[in-house]
Amino acid sequence: MQSFDALELRRALGSFPTGVTIVTARSVGGSVAGVTANSFSSVSLDPPLVLWSLAKSALSLQVFSSAEYFAVHILSAGQEALSNRFASRGENKFAGIDIEEGLGGAPLLSGCSVRFQCKVVHQYEGGDHIIFVGEVLDLVSNDEMPLAYHGGRYALAASKTSKTILAGPVKSDFSEDFSAYLLWRANFQFFAALRTEPAMAGFSHDQFLVLVTLLYSDRRSRDALAFKALGSAASSAEFDRAVMNLAERGLVDQRRHNERIICSLSIRGKDAARSMVKAAVAVEERLSKMMGPREFLVLKNLLKAFVIETATEFPYPLHPTSEIR
Ligand SMILES: Cc1cc2nc3c(=O)[nH]c(=O)nc-3n(C[C@H](O)[C@H](O)[C@H](O)COP(=O)(O)O)c2cc1C
Repeated sequence: MQSFDALELRRALGSFPTGVTIVTARSVGGSVAGVTANSFSSVSLDPPLVLWSLAKSALSLQVFSSAEYFAVHILSAGQEALSNRFASRGENKFAGIDIEEGLGGAPLLSGCSVRFQCKVVHQYEGGDHIIFVGEVLDLVSNDEMPLAYHGGRYALAASKTSKTILAGPVKSDFSEDFSAYLLWRANFQFFAALRTEPAMAGFSHDQFLVLVTLLYSDRRSRDALAFKALGSAASSAEFDRAVMNLAERGLVDQRRHNERIICSLSIRGKDAARSMVKAAVAVEERLSKMMGPREFLVLKNLLKAFVIETATEFPYPLHPTSEIR
């Protein structure tokens, strides 16, 4: 007597985080097959054995059960689309994809995190699945961030070091786990690091924003510049002073055009802005090393998701720039 139903079992098994692989093979008759599988697991180091299981209902069962070799591709974080393609039922999954031929003619995919080529050594009955055990004969490893899978959804894997203190939800008290505080504090610490760079010497934060904004948008009215750089249409006195100072130093050119002051960078201004961008990239690399490159990438991806997912509700800029061009 089971104390759970099929859905509960599925959910419970899905709560175990895994990577995502695509397993490929060529049958003795020459047909190829590929399926997305997260049942992949290590079995033994000596001899080197791995396993994965395939549903008996899979269309590719024939190919896999008659193949002598299979290749396992551990997918990288950017290969979600490839995973979906091989999770569909069908024969034309390889159309338009660059493949090489591996052992036994198994199709090899590129861009994966790790690829194993295996010789089939056992096939076992496992309920509604067949378990394939393979001996690893070859492996290629790239240092790509892997694609993870958890709770029926793709995920990103970051290591949890002893320094990682898990932030929790903020309840009625205003704690240091408040997301806006964390975003602000992270921004503050990034710019504190940037200010130590020689390229930033003699420039304020506002001036950095003005120079970098103009580097990427060529010329702008002073109002639009204030808006873009400060995130507000109001041209504060401090901001005006920052632009005036850049103009006096010959870094920003200001021309009057139809009642508006148009700002652009002089050649020296462009040089200064480019050095700042270079410094900012160097700081990003430094901070990424401090935090761990993988964690930094996960952080950037989640921030990007935050920006994209909240953008329709809170579009940036808040007012169309056309009004204040
Ligand atoms: C993340 C993920 C993991 C999967 N893992 C497995 C697995 O381990 N074994 C399996 O048989 N199917 C697994 N599937 C489902 C197969 O990829 C899917 O049924 C596929 O259509 C089989 O292809 P075929 O019918 O062309 O052989 C998984 C699907 C996804 C999205």
